[in-house]
Amino acid sequence: MSLLAGRTAIVTGAGRGLGRAHALMLARHGANVLVNDLGSSASGEGTDQTPAQEVVAEIEKLGGKAAINTSDVSDWKASQQMVEQAIDTFGGLEILVNNAGILRDRMLINMSEEEWDLVVKVHLKGTFAPLHHAGNYWRMRSKGGETFDASVINTTSHSALFANVGQTNYAAAKAGIATMSIVAARELQRYGVRVNALAPRAETRMTEGLRDWTPEQLERRRPDWISTLVAWLASEDAKEVSGRVFEAWGYGYAVMESWQHGPRMDASLDPTTIGDGMRKICRFARPNANINRDEWLDP
Ligand SMILES: NC(=O)c1ccc[n+]([C@@H]2O[C@H](COP(=O)([O-])OP(=O)(O)OC[C@H]3O[C@@H](n4cnc5c(N)ncnc54)[C@H](O)[C@@H]3O)[C@@H](O)[C@H]2O)c1
Repeated sequence: MSLLAGRTAIVTGAGRGLGRAHALMLARHGANVLVNDLGSSASGEGTDQTPAQEVVAEIEKLGGKAAINTSDVSDWKASQQMVEQAIDTFGGLEILVNNAGILRDRMLINMSEEEWDLVVKVHLKGTFAPLHHAGNYWRMRSKGGETFDASVINTTSHSALFANVGQTNYAAAKAGIATMSIVAARELQRYGVRVNALAPRAETRMTEGLRDWTPEQLERRRPDWISTLVAWLASEDAKEVSGRVFEAWGYGYAVMESWQHGPRMDASLDPTTIGDGMRKICRFARPNANINRDEWLDP
């Protein structure tokens, strides 16, 4: 029995890069896949059906079942229709992989309103809208007395978790996705829905040319290493795993441990009295996690 037999998945942004690898991995393990991709440029311009069409053809060549959807995931109505299309085409929906994304990097003082709005919309609303519509479908199934296991895998980023300079729009949206995933896991648990997020690192058009990688590094930066975790999280074998944020790439999988309470002091109603105490707790608090100091992230 294959890992995902009888399960249906939507993968957003599945025409290229990570989404393509996720769609193929899910299909290889028996899932029906609705391949969503707007076919935009890496900065969110234009549309093109070809990438999604090619992935559908690849899945069908493998003997799997797939259908194409080319809507913008951040369009409320279109994302509802995407969920309906998966259910109408394959008879249900058990897996939602929110992966579509774009970049418009700039230092915050130079960032335009449009660069902020578009990146936040594609990532944050483009994750929330499909989650909302799929969540309503699962709620309806659960209220109908059915017991089932549904799985949502959202895509966050190290940029958010480790505060990348030059990406206030992207990091803010991706941090929102990480926290949204944990809130959603708590809200949807009662309907049999698990929600997790992962921060991938892979060589795609979004990251290409960042550095000259060695062949060994390039091998570990193949998206497929991340798709393995996506397929497992999508399966019933991961039934007890929800509300987690993972780091994932060819060098391993790790669980992020969220914000923690640090040193504290008593509150006051007089701001002139708290300086010494505040300086002290800041001195004793652990520094924020920093991507540049973490050797595991930079082998
Ligand atoms: N590559 C990495 O190392 C890395 C690191 C951290 C996070 N991510 C995230 O992983 C996800 C996939 O990125 P990738 O590296 O594969 O990039 P990519 O550019 O190769 O693929 C993204 C896909 O999303 C599609 N897309 C963009 N906007 C869309 C929209 N509104 N509706 C539907 N489809 C849309 C694009 O057409 C494209 O095919 C993104 O969310 C990205 O932010 C990637």
